Parts: sequence; C-alpha cells; structure tokens
Amino acid sequence: MTELTPSQMQFEAQLSLSRLLPRMDHVWNLHEVDVELRNEFNLRLQQHWEELFGLLFRLYGSRYDFFFHLEEILRTAVIAWAKRPAELRTVDRQRINQPDWFLSEKMVGGALYVDLFSENLTRLREQIDYFQQLGLTYLHLMPLFAVRPGDNDGGYAISNYRSVDPRLGTLEDLKALADDLRAAGIRLVLDFVFNHTADDHDWAQNAQAGDLEYQQYYHIFPDRKIPDQYERTLREIFPTVRRGNFTWHDGMQRWVWTTFNSFQWDLNYHNPAVFRAMAEEMFFIADTGVDILRLDAVAFIWKQMGTSCENLHEAHLLIQAFNRLARIATPGLLFKSEAIVHPDEVVKYISTKECQLSYNPTLMALLWESLATREVKLLNRSLSHRHQLPSNTAWVNYLRCHDDIGWTFDDADAAALGINAYDHRQFLNRFFSGQFRDSFARGIPFQENLSTGDMRIAGTLASLAGLELAIEQEDEQAKELAVRRMLLLQGISLSVGGIPLLYLGEEWGMLNDYDFVKDPAKAGDTRWVHRPKMKWEFLEGMPDDVEVGGAPIHQRIFRSLRRMILQRQATPAFGGQTMQLLNSENPHVLGFVRSRDSHRVIVLANFSEQPQQVAGNVLRTAGLGRFFYDSLTDQTIRTSAPVALEPYQLCWLARE
Ligand code: GLC
Ligand code: GLC
Repeated sequence: MTELTPSQMQFEAQLSLSRLLPRMDHVWNLHEVDVELRNEFNLRLQQHWEELFGLLFRLYGSRYDFFFHLEEILRTAVIAWAKRPAELRTVDRQRINQPDWFLSEKMVGGALYVDLFSENLTRLREQIDYFQQLGLTYLHLMPLFAVRPGDNDGGYAISNYRSVDPRLGTLEDLKALADDLRAAGIRLVLDFVFNHTADDHDWAQNAQAGDLEYQQYYHIFPDRKIPDQYERTLREIFPTVRRGNFTWHDGMQRWVWTTFNSFQWDLNYHNPAVFRAMAEEMFFIADTGVDILRLDAVAFIWKQMGTSCENLHEAHLLIQAFNRLARIATPGLLFKSEAIVHPDEVVKYISTKECQLSYNPTLMALLWESLATREVKLLNRSLSHRHQLPSNTAWVNYLRCHDDIGWTFDDADAAALGINAYDHRQFLNRFFSGQFRDSFARGIPFQENLSTGDMRIAGTLASLAGLELAIEQEDEQAKELAVRRMLLLQGISLSVGGIPLLYLGEEWGMLNDYDFVKDPAKAGDTRWVHRPKMKWEFLEGMPDDVEVGGAPIHQRIFRSLRRMILQRQATPAFGGQTMQLLNSENPHVLGFVRSRDSHRVIVLANFSEQPQQVAGNVLRTAGLGRFFYDSLTDQTIRTSAPVALEPYQLCWLARE
C-alpha cells in the first residue's frame, strides 16, 4: 500500500478533483442538468472529496490504473445525482439539515417478507393502514429483487438488482409503494446485498462463459492451492450446506469463494471495478425511494490471506467509501449495518461516516440469555460498557429476525462474572432447542457444526418464549407466562434506546411453522421455521376498544404490544441517546434510567417467573422522589415501601 502524509493526500485529492471536474461537464450536459443542481452537487463533492479520495487511495492507490477508476467512480456519482428523482432530492435536502431525523421516540420499525405477509407489492400497499395502526414508521421489506430459480436464501441470492421478483410485482409497483409509504410517514428500508451475487447474475454468467473481466469480479481459483491456504484461518458460516468456503464449479472447472450458500458468489472488492459497479447498483436501489439501506453481511466483504477474512480494516474503508458516495449523490440515504459478530467488532461499523444504524445482536442474544437463566448479570454487564453509541447514530433493537440466534456475547464479559462462555453457549443451545429439562422454549438447531460443537437457534419469538409448548399442553398459566415473556422483551426493546424493530408476525405471537420441510427449496435451512405466512384471520372480529383482558390470546398480544408502542411514542425520554443502568440490587431485575432534557423514566424488568422486589430507596436515589407513575399499568407506586414486581413484570416509571 502506498503511504502519503495527510498534506500530500490533501494535495493529491485537490489536484485530481481539479483535473476530473471539467471532464464531468459532458455528463451533466448529456443529462441536461441545470446549473443549480450541478452547484449543489459540486458543493457536496468539495465537502467530501478529500475523504473519499483518501479512502479509495488506501484501497486502490497502488494500482497503475487508479486514476482511471477514480474517474469512473466520480462519473457514477454524477450520473446518480443527475438521475435522482426530484421528490427524493427534496428529502435529501431536508435530511442534510436534520441529520438526526431518525433519533426519535416516534421511530418504530417492522420487517416482513412481501410474499409471506401480503403476497405481492400491490396487496402490501393496501396494508399501510395496518402498519399505521401498529405505530410503525419504518418498514424493512426483505429482499424483493429478482433471484435465481430454486433456493435463493430468502431473497439473498440476487440475480438482478434492477428488477423485482416477478412473483412480487414490478419496479413500478415498488416505486408506487415507496411513494405511498412516504406519504404515510413510513420510511422504507431495503437490503443492499453487496457481499455476493447469485450464481446466475449477469456478472457471474459472464464469468462462467470465460470472460476474464468478469472472472475478476469474483474470487475464482484454478485449483485448491490458494483456497486451502485461506481455509486455515476461515470460519464456516453454513457448515451444513457444504464444508469450507469454496465451491467447485463444473462448467468453469474452477473453485469459487462462497461464504454462504454455494450459489452465492462472494464479490472481489480488491477490484475497483466491482466497487464502482456495486455503487451503481446502490444508487439504483436508492432511487426506488429507499430511506435506509440494510448493508448485508458487512463483515465478509474484504479478504486477506492469513486472516479470518471478517471485519478487516479494508471492509470499513469500503463501507466508508460507499457512505461518502451516498453523502455526495444521494445524501438522504442512511446505512444500517448487519454485522452479527463479536460485540467489539459490531460497534466498529457504527459512525456517521460508516453506518448510522446497526442491528444490536448482543442485546438480542442477552435478552434471551436472561430469560433462560432468570438472571440479568451478563445483560447488565454488557449494557454497562457496550450500549453507548456516538451521537447521531443508533441501535436497531430486535428480538427475532429472519435469521437465527447466535450467542455472540463476549467471553471476557462472561468470565468476569464467573461464567464459562463455552459451557454457557452449550447450555443456551440446549435450553432453546428444548433439550434442557423444564425449558419452555421450542427452538430448533441451525447450522450445527459437529466438528466445533457450534450451533445457532431458529424459532419465532412466541415459540421461544414458551407459547407453543403452553398451547400444546393447554396450560393456561404457562400461556400467561409466555405472553408476559414476550411483552417483557418487547418492552425493553422499545425503551432501552435506539429504534425497536418488530419482525412482523411477532405482534400476533405467531408460532413456528414446521411445514417448510415440505418445500425442497427450503427444507435444508431451518431458519424457515420462523418465517411463517401471516395469518390475517387473527385480525378478524377484533373489537376496537383498548381493553385487552378477555380477548383471544393472539389479539391480546397484538393489543398489548400496540399499547406499549403508543406509550413509547408518547415518552420523549425514549428518543434520547442516554441510558444509565440502575443497580436494582436484585439479580433478577434489570433496571435503567432513560433521560432527555427534563424527561426521565426508570425502567424495571423482572426476568423471573417469581414475584420480585426492588427497594424503594433504589428508586429514590435514581432521583424521582416518593411517588412514581407506571405508564404501563396506569398505577401510582410509592417508594416508601419496596416496589413489588409481578412475574415478568415491566414498569416504565416516571415522576407523578
Ligand atoms: C445475511 C442475511 C442472511 C443471509 C446472509 C447471506 O446475513 O441476513 O439471511 O443468509 O446474509 O446473504
Ligand atoms: C452469520 C453471519 C451473518 C448471517 C448469519 C446467517 O451469523 O455473520 O451475517 O446473517 O450467519 O445465519
């Protein structure tokens, strides 16, 4: 890698820009862009160019053709702004002025599969009322682009980023939906699956046809020599699919790098043409009306011999370079990182210069861990030094998603509490796959690795929280406890800080669906157990009043959750960025304080099925006087005596 001092870099950056700018004139002219729009772009370019140049220089500066690629990348950005729809440019301008627009108690997200939830995009447009009723302001549609035939990893094996899967609709349908969502105040989130393409993407097909240019888009090897060298330091992500990270391609008579399924070919970002080409796809997706791009599998995008090829420094440089391009050409667009890795690595993707948002896999895993152990010490410890984020960034908190649960907590956090991480993961896997005596959970194993003992867990929120077993055993008390567990976790996700994200179906307590094994394209992937088809019949006959007692269980879950969401949205303290832990002096009770300006709320969460107490002075020292009002039960609580918590009770306490 070529080293330049900061001032040399600055000089090179300005020099290159002064050379490149005049060469963009014909692009502007070709697209008939007026002077005002050009100036707007150029202003942002001036602001971000030095950084973009620096990032690209560090990635590709040692190549003889660096300046050629630099020019191509700049041209891609110019064209993107030139083609940007006028209504999205308006959104861009608003967000430049309000970069923290997503930090609000009003933000609540939902994620769904278009086919499983609504069948297609047109039907989905008719369900906007439903999302509003639930209080959603952010909607993540699982990948809906054209996919390969047969198994497509739930949409993550994309054969064309510019066309919608015809079973779901057309690009026009997507844009119409995006317009309707925008009008309804709901932000649209789509995936940017940029680590790999499907094996039938044009680029991969060209590579298969022997086109050398496109073979360099992927990591392709004539024999096992190099793959074997890499394998020494690689993990296996989908070990039940195939051992190792490479797949033999008969047609090419070559090995291809495939981190995930054998039909998902990892892109080669050592090649700047790949970076440019994917930037073009990114801009195309953004222009359908996307507010937030979910950056899929960020950890894997850069490979280096002798390393794990995960979370490498260059992966961050790449994402930052995409981010700079977005700031220049589609400035309203945010990134959300999907890094399901060690917590120390997860946070490295989060900054205004990289991903403003990130899934919070550690919180997710530790909430489940606390349910299993009935103790909050590991959760508490992790929150104490891992929750705070830089300003103008946020966690996306979730309990379940379309993927499995992996126990990604930090071994040292566990060790400090006398917990052996390896044994603990074994316990959690047994607990959540129902193999542990007295476990309430009904999960199933995902990607069990017989050589390492690793395994992850699949299952819906309701099935993991005990509802499936309770219904099967017709045990009313167990049902009650299961519902409380679900609401407890939801309540924490709604109040701990960040954007809560429901995986739709959760609002009804949808159970595992074991029928996936009947579909050969799904049978090999147990994550399908927690991807059930929405049952709209749950909604039928639901009275409008807010009284929840007495309703059938699925309606009760829906209405309790909706009530909590509305309460979150009426609680300004939940939109702030500070969270302070509160030592509840009770091993089963998590406590924290959320505050913002003069607003202050204490959250208490009992993770045990036994009643618990928290001493009144604990709450008084948290600064709220002698009376509290619990907005979840509408009750006033006196702190002169210990505060009693029912099994799995959650309280949101504010000063009366
Ligand atoms: C992401 C997705 C997951 C998929 C993988 C490969 O992690 O969430 O569902 O299998 O990437 O695209
Ligand atoms: C691994 C990957 C993550 C992916 C998941 C799918 O955890 O880190 O990106 O979503 O596997 O199971």
